[in-house]
Amino acid sequence: MHPQPTAPQEGKKPDYSQIDMFIQQYYPDGKNCLIPVLHTAQNLYGHLPLPLLEHISGKLNIPLSEITGVVSFYSFFSMKPRGRHLIRVCLGTACYIRGGKKLVDHMLSSLKIDIGETTEDQRFTLEIARCIGACGLAPAVMIDNKVYKQMSPAKMDALLKQFR
Ligand code: FES
Repeated sequence: MHPQPTAPQEGKKPDYSQIDMFIQQYYPDGKNCLIPVLHTAQNLYGHLPLPLLEHISGKLNIPLSEITGVVSFYSFFSMKPRGRHLIRVCLGTACYIRGGKKLVDHMLSSLKIDIGETTEDQRFTLEIARCIGACGLAPAVMIDNKVYKQMSPAKMDALLKQFR
């Protein structure tokens, strides 16, 4: 489950003191810590909006372009708010061949969103993964931190009912 950040009030500067404290406590020299800092920031604030990345860039003295490059490279980072649950359908080779594409098509039409988008009720965000280590029991899907194997559209429908 992903924490839901409170939207900053209009005209008010976002409060990033928690990530400042994390950096101060664990990486006071600000060196070799970009990935753990981004991880912690995403856990604290739910996603990584540009003002937060600018703040981290200033704190760690790392160019913003380098930071946005890292954020877009790793699929577990997101600059957009995500829903309460993150669904990642695997489209690695084994899963693709064994029905992953059909699963994705099913999710697109049942959730009525595109890849990378979040449902209107903020319940689910849909993303694609490239192998989540369950190739032997493909197709696999990851929801939040749990892997579900040998999935089918019907199994997905039943499973998603358990998530609020
Ligand atoms: S290809 Fe999907 S789990 Fe490996």
